[in-house]
Amino acid sequence: MLRVEDLYVDRGSINVLHGVSIKVEKGSITCVIGPNGAGKTTLLLSIVGILPPRKGRNIFKGKDITFLPSYKRVEMGMSLVPEGRGLFQGKTVEENLLSGAFRKEARLKCRDNLDRVYSLFPILKERRKQLASSLSGGEQQMLAVARALMSNLDFLMLDEPSLGLAPIIVSKLYDTVKSIREEGVTVLVVEQNVHQILRVADFGYVLENGRIVHADPCDKLIEAPEIKSAYLGL
Ligand SMILES: Nc1ncnc2c1ncn2[C@@H]1O[C@H](COP(=O)(O)OP(=O)(O)O)[C@@H](O)[C@H]1O
Ligand SMILES: [Mg+2]
Repeated sequence: MLRVEDLYVDRGSINVLHGVSIKVEKGSITCVIGPNGAGKTTLLLSIVGILPPRKGRNIFKGKDITFLPSYKRVEMGMSLVPEGRGLFQGKTVEENLLSGAFRKEARLKCRDNLDRVYSLFPILKERRKQLASSLSGGEQQMLAVARALMSNLDFLMLDEPSLGLAPIIVSKLYDTVKSIREEGVTVLVVEQNVHQILRVADFGYVLENGRIVHADPCDKLIEAPEIKSAYLGL
């Protein structure tokens, strides 16, 4: 689905990513874990086309998208749920969902997609007339994911979806991510809080100081002594 090849990305005068390469297999849940400041958000912003690389390439569905504008990447089926979720707090749950259906094909399938997200997230159906600001943190994160699904995507990126959520809510959210994958959506998640994602994702990368320092199936990563001590507190 996606190949990031030897990516160098700067932010201002700071070199943030130093030759990052990752692969996201179609149908997988892939994660990139790493501490605060490692460059996880920078990587996602480069994949969606907001931060162009100084060097390296992004290949999406076999096409070189390195210099493609963001809206074209969205048209090709990718969507990012940003850190902090980016909801319209003063609008209702349903208005937020409809705002995700801005592409032509997505508008045409709006009704079907709305039914689909309401069956994935029954709580959002119950609350569809409520303001986004009245939802709990977990419900807001679900709304942000559901809104992305309204864009008719097949590649979903999530930037620290567990941030600020209780472990039980994170576990529910990740159950839904698994259901989304069952529906044929490929998922790339970046996380600092790694306990749960390593049990959900198939393959994981560890990003530290702008470099990939480990890459392994997640069941192997969980067992790696350096991951246990640095990330799992074991
Ligand atoms: N808006 C910005 N302007 C300039 N530099 C930034 C900005 N945001 C982040 N950085 C730099 O990029 C580095 C990586 O940040 P980021 O990609 O947000 O890391 P992460 O998501 O892993 O916490 C930070 O250490 C910081 O130095
Ligand atoms: Mg970040």
